Amino acid sequence: MEIIKNPDAMTAWADQMRARGRTISLVPTMGYFHEGHLSLMRKAREIAEEVVVSLFVNPMQFGPSEDLDRYPKSFDQDARLAHEIGASVLFAPGSDEVYPPGFQSKVEVAGLTEQLCGASRPGHFTGVTTVVAKLFNMVKPHFAVFGKKDFQQLAVIKKMVADLNFDVKIIGQPIFREKDGLAMSSRNSYLDADERKQALCLYQALQLARQKVAGGEKNAAGLKQEIFRFIAASGKVEIDYVSIVDCRTLSVCREITDKSLLALAVKVGKTRLIDNTLLKGDS
Ligand code: PAJ
Repeated sequence: MEIIKNPDAMTAWADQMRARGRTISLVPTMGYFHEGHLSLMRKAREIAEEVVVSLFVNPMQFGPSEDLDRYPKSFDQDARLAHEIGASVLFAPGSDEVYPPGFQSKVEVAGLTEQLCGASRPGHFTGVTTVVAKLFNMVKPHFAVFGKKDFQQLAVIKKMVADLNFDVKIIGQPIFREKDGLAMSSRNSYLDADERKQALCLYQALQLARQKVAGGEKNAAGLKQEIFRFIAASGKVEIDYVSIVDCRTLSVCREITDKSLLALAVKVGKTRLIDNTLLKGDS
């Protein structure tokens, strides 16, 4: 596996591969790999001949009071893991190379970014779409693989690709969980033992909601109330949102259908965690 840090060198590599007729898949990440990241890399390896994993902690998607400075890092281990999975390149540009002095452009998707995480993290999705658009231009992938854990991010990126005619196929992969159900996240490393227990209430809430729907619940507002109360009663967590939305449009559902998605964001101590599930069928 090659480690490439310079964007021009990355593009030269991509041009060479494309000239040879090789297909490229990209897995964009911010590092500190867990099994969720690795599952995306395995998928990427299945669908294309060359896998590029990008590792860049993108300052533009963090708010001023968020965790940019303490975001966990483990470069050597990440490089080993990506290599073991069979990535061709770990692309790890520096901040100055992605955003050189004088950088002035933004890529913004309206509409889909206004609700859910977009409401509590202003500017976050503009940071995400800007960096992902840049990564697409630098790496020139045929495919890019994203996790459904960040469901809104996936929807926003699909919209950007459609609206701006990017020639990249976006693949969404299921949420990878710990044995007890907690969705894997680099941010789980912030949790102490007590917070780790509290954090389970997200998964329990998703399970409860699916049970209620399997039992015939159709009213989205009623179910939302019940899930809100369940999480609030489960301990020292601060709820950011509990929402039941259409998984295609992210608009609020009145009635529960096979497109209804329950999305949760809570703060456990200082750590913001998100999770989601479709309420019917496989998630
Ligand atoms: P990061 O949080 O490192 O996540 C990288 C990718 O891993 C994202 O597509 C995310 O949805 C996926 N992922 C995270 N946890 C997962 C889990 N438990 N199961 C399955 N997939 C999971 O998301 C970002 O980085 C950034 O916003 C990025 C897209 C790289 C842009 O900076």
